[in-house]
Formats: sequence, structure tokens, C-alpha cells
Amino acid sequence: MDIIDAIHARRSIREFTDREIGRDEIERLLDAAVQAPNHRMTQPWRFYVLGPESRRAYGAALGARKAKRVDDPEAAQAVLEKVADKHASLPAMLAVSIVLDDNPEIREEDYAAAYMAIENLSLAAHALGLGTHIKTGAVMDDPRSREALGVPDGERVVATIELGEPAGIPDPKARVSAGELTVWVP
Ligand SMILES: Cc1cc2nc3c(=O)[nH]c(=O)nc-3n(C[C@H](O)[C@H](O)[C@H](O)COP(=O)(O)O)c2cc1C
Repeated sequence: MDIIDAIHARRSIREFTDREIGRDEIERLLDAAVQAPNHRMTQPWRFYVLGPESRRAYGAALGARKAKRVDDPEAAQAVLEKVADKHASLPAMLAVSIVLDDNPEIREEDYAAAYMAIENLSLAAHALGLGTHIKTGAVMDDPRSREALGVPDGERVVATIELGEPAGIPDPKARVSAGELTVWVP
């Protein structure tokens, strides 16, 4: 698949089929991820490939946060369980963290490099007929979600990635053309 075509056709996939995703497939994606450019070759990225148990635990952490906005305790519990079930039933899910450097400049570069790795992974998934959806938010810093992932101190979770065979491809979201956002500086 041509890389330019892949860049244009990749979409964030919201629904997946039930097809199981093999370890070999995930390893191919991770091999692509770590080819990302990386100033100073700090290779800050760490990957957590979650099984059903840790997916459920992560979903429960996220669900507990959503449930806080619901007054009725039974309804709140139902929200928590729904989010936990949804995560447990994903075909595959990963979390990406970076090892935090003491130097703020390197930390920023490392964050950027991690997202280049994530884009590599997403495009590689697309090339293999798979789909990804990046998820972020304050849940990533929640001690319950960190525990679910098994992330040690000294690492910052920068994304979770839901992965599977797409059940449908969403329409592309409109983008402002690059030309409108570009200044050709003489
Ligand atoms: C840094 C980053 C964080 C994102 N976080 C979320 C998220 O928390 N929830 C979500 O539904 N989508 C999230 N997305 C996916 C975007 O919503 C998606 O990329 C955007 O809507 C454009 O759609 P496309 O990827 O299909 O082109 C995130 C994407 C990026 C790059």
C-alpha cells in the first residue's frame, strides 16, 4: 500500500469486528512504531499490550470517573460496568507511555517522538487491514488506570490505542486545506 494513500485513508475506528488480533500482528505494529524518528535516540516509548483482564480494569477506572457525574448509585454502577465491559470486549488494546527524562526539553521531544511512533503504528495497522483509535484524557494519570496497566513511577501514559478489524470506516472529517494554513516565508 502506498504510504500517501494510507495517510489519506486512515480513520479512527470506533467499531470492530470480533476477529481476534494475534500477537504476531501486534508485534509487527510495534516493530513499525519503534522505527519512529527520535532525537538523541532516547527511545522513550514503552508499550503495554492489554489482555481482557487489564482492559476491564482500565475500563472500570474510566467508568468510575464517568460514574461520578451520575447521582443515582445504581445508575452510576451501571455506567461503570458498561464502560468496563466495553473495554474487556475490545479485540485488542495498547497503552503507550514515555519514560520521563529530568530535562524538560528532552521530555518534550520524547512526547513528540512517542506520537510519531503512535502514528507509525496506526498507519501500519491500516496497511494490514486493521483499525486503531487513539484515546487520551485525565484517566491516563488516574492511579487506578495506572495500576490496571502496571505502569511504573517515572513513566507518563500518553495514549491508549484501541485496535481491531474495522466493522465500518467512518467518513473522513473535514480538514482545513494545508494551503490555507501555510505561510511560504521568503
Ligand atoms: C492526541 C490525540 C488524542 C485523541 N484522543 C481521543 C479521545 O480521547 N477520544 C476520542 O474519541 N478520540 C480521540 N482521538 C482521535 C481523534 O478524535 C481523531 O483522530 C479525529 O477525530 C480525526 O478523525 P480521524 O482520525 O478519523 O481522521 C485522539 C487523537 C489524537 C491525535
